[in-house]
Amino acid sequence: MKFTVINHSCLFIETEAGSILVDPWLKGSAYWRSWWHYPPSPEIRPEWLAPDYVYFTHHHFDHLHYPSARSLDPRTKVLIPRFGLETMRKEMSGIGFADVRELDHGDAIELGRGVRIASFQYGFDDTVLVVDDGTDVLFNLNDCKIRSTSLRRIVERFGQPTFAFKSYSFAQCYPITYTSSDPAELQIIDRNVYFDDFVGRMREIRPKYAVPFGSMVAFLHPECRDLNQYLVSPYEVQERARTAGLPGTEVVVMSPGDSWSHDAGFTLTDVDWYSDRESHLEALAQEMAPRLEAQTAAEAGRTVDWEAFRTYFTKFVRALPPGAGRLAVKRPIVFEVPSSDLPYWVVDVPHRHVTRQAVPPPDRADLVRINEGVLADAIEKVLVYFVHISTRVRIEVEPGGASSDLAFWGLLGIWELGYLDRKVLMSRRFWGAAWKRRDEGVGALGALMKRGSFSEKMAGQFAEDDAVTAGGA
Ligand SMILES: [Fe+2]
Repeated sequence: MKFTVINHSCLFIETEAGSILVDPWLKGSAYWRSWWHYPPSPEIRPEWLAPDYVYFTHHHFDHLHYPSARSLDPRTKVLIPRFGLETMRKEMSGIGFADVRELDHGDAIELGRGVRIASFQYGFDDTVLVVDDGTDVLFNLNDCKIRSTSLRRIVERFGQPTFAFKSYSFAQCYPITYTSSDPAELQIIDRNVYFDDFVGRMREIRPKYAVPFGSMVAFLHPECRDLNQYLVSPYEVQERARTAGLPGTEVVVMSPGDSWSHDAGFTLTDVDWYSDRESHLEALAQEMAPRLEAQTAAEAGRTVDWEAFRTYFTKFVRALPPGAGRLAVKRPIVFEVPSSDLPYWVVDVPHRHVTRQAVPPPDRADLVRINEGVLADAIEKVLVYFVHISTRVRIEVEPGGASSDLAFWGLLGIWELGYLDRKVLMSRRFWGAAWKRRDEGVGALGALMKRGSFSEKMAGQFAEDDAVTAGGA
């Protein structure tokens, strides 16, 4: 086996049975020009655009990047996880791929010459990819929140891997774009959670090499430039692993373009991207300025239409399961829409209605501020949850409101994926996928029954056992 880290979450794996490209985001930005590659991508090689196989771990734009997917050879064989709904399969056909194969949870398939590949699904939209060539085994966890029994099953099947790749920094905007008069509202998770999660998962997997991966981005949009200070660097992860202790595992920092092969070992760059990150970012922002300005121009003057907003969020609140207002989104979520005469647009989950008014309701959970051009686009594309990932949002949380706010965003993401659709929930496909993951279901139910606020559970997507800890270590 040989592999090259192309960037952020993109890997190019070469095996005796052909090449596998994983999560190609090969150009430009993601999430309304907010996320950019950092460290920057190397020059894209022709073979990366015509791999034998491509695997997409999940739907997020930094993994399934439409412009990049469209630039691949359409004859590429596509491997995707078989989730409980068939959204991704349809997306692949829409992009123009003819050969699409869905991988059932945990069922390894043979690519030939002793090379096996498997997809382990977890949560609503996450997967671990395993590639085993008979000599070396690679686990790509990317930003999958897998742990405990579900993770142990993979190790039982494939043994301790040679490599485990895992994310290590913020991939959503809580708490870095949040403010509150009560500091406790901003402490449900912090950057320690990411260190603990990296080290904790590597302790469960015990790979020979652990690679901090899937978090190689920076924010160049003017609305988010100030957030780069919060990003975790892979060297911090390496240091944290050293002090915490990971016996038998070496943490290797790989930058874009770095590679490993069974014969030659690691080939690593000696460029230091992190000591003076701000000046690198300034240079990058200048280089990308025309694109950022074009984005601003495209968004300028676009306002959110009240009827579109009302229709969208009314569908959402009506799709929520019983108890969503009593147990999860207990207080109104308020969007501030400055172009409106009645600028406070209220999504009231307990009463399942959407209204607008001149002043924000005093019992609100929060006040959400999103550029209207972005919000209008996100509603049109059924992707408002992605704005929370993008970081192009500012949220002022009222005392006691964080739990409702985080539950709102979590449920919105699940609804936008299609999981709250009755037809999906009644389908053989959904129950077939759920049955294959029954271990996870039992663990998630256990986590749901445990004490702790709903927001903590949403933050961990009902993860098993050691669900995200409040305040970190
Ligand atoms: Fe993701």
